[in-house]
Amino acid sequence: MEMCFNKSFEDIRTMDPKMLEILSMAHRVAKSTSNVLITGESGTGKELVARGIHRSSPRSEGPFIAVNCGAIPLELLESELMGYERGAFTGALSRRVGDFEFANGGTIFLDEISSLPRPLQAKLLRILQEREIKRLGSNKTVKLDVRVIAAANVDLEEEVEKGLFRQDLYFRLNVVPIHLLPLRERIGDIPLLLDHFIKKACSKMMKNIHGYSTEIIPILQRHPWPGNVREFENLIERVVVLIEDGKLISIKDLPPNIVISNSSGYSQIQEDTLGLREKCMVYEKVEIMKALYDTKWNRGKAARLLKIHRNTLIQKMKKLNIPSGSKKGANNILDNGR
Ligand SMILES: Nc1ncnc2c1ncn2[C@@H]1O[C@H](COP(=O)(O)OP(=O)(O)OP(=O)(O)O)[C@@H](O)[C@H]1O
Ligand SMILES: [Mg+2]
Repeated sequence: MEMCFNKSFEDIRTMDPKMLEILSMAHRVAKSTSNVLITGESGTGKELVARGIHRSSPRSEGPFIAVNCGAIPLELLESELMGYERGAFTGALSRRVGDFEFANGGTIFLDEISSLPRPLQAKLLRILQEREIKRLGSNKTVKLDVRVIAAANVDLEEEVEKGLFRQDLYFRLNVVPIHLLPLRERIGDIPLLLDHFIKKACSKMMKNIHGYSTEIIPILQRHPWPGNVREFENLIERVVVLIEDGKLISIKDLPPNIVISNSSGYSQIQEDTLGLREKCMVYEKVEIMKALYDTKWNRGKAARLLKIHRNTLIQKMKKLNIPSGSKKGANNILDNGR
């Protein structure tokens, strides 16, 4: 079973009710020319949603120009956005059409808008108000018909309060706010995304993975995913690269930091609330998980690596709640995208 909202948003997989509601709103807002502000942690799908809005808008035939305001050196950003005439400044050897003009008739996506320096915030505000632009070094104004979608992975309202972001610009951009939930707040999507990314990685790498053992689902659901869907996708791709063709993905194939982050991890050892006994248990668990991973969950080999008896290892695994790594409860992905 796969869920997607509609054709324009088909690369966004979710069955989370809140996310579906957000996508439905994005779909409705696409019909207008209102500015949209998309917020959400890194890797939550802000750019995917921006592209979806463009695709389902009446201007879908027009260009979609994405500008990462955080990645372009500040001294270049203005000329990138506005364009310039030959000789507008030293080094302007030929004229350049700016991103706003490029986006004319379509959508401009201003990513990491919080990185925009104050002077440029003022210029952007003016462009949004007047709907026209002048290239640097030119007196000619160009009429703009551009839909603006901005994105931020920081709380812009907080930036406004701190005086880092202009309030008037914030209000202008935030006509329709769209907030994307972090993955850890929609863990019901994990099985769906797992299927999707296994298929995606398999077809990219011409591999044939039969599916996964269901024991990995709760493990993946308990990981906090600070990098959200992007981190999740990268992990699955890595797992698919490393696994033998024709196998099922099981606990053995997950890197120890993912399995450990569930219940306990090294970071917990730093916590003063833990007594020496608990700290030792966390430490033991981490070391055992590493040995199991390094030996592809061969308990005999792992025990030798740890220089303990195999039975001691099995006892410790039980005590520390480490799964045995068996393949019971397999979830086959029959049509795996090949
Ligand atoms: N719901 C989803 N379904 C399928 N893939 C997704 C979903 N959300 C995100 N992705 C995947 O995660 C990657 C990151 O998404 P995107 O670039 O849109 O995130 P972002 O919010 O813009 O991140 P950043 O703030 O780091 O720029 C995408 O390339 C896409 O492959
Ligand atoms: Mg992005």
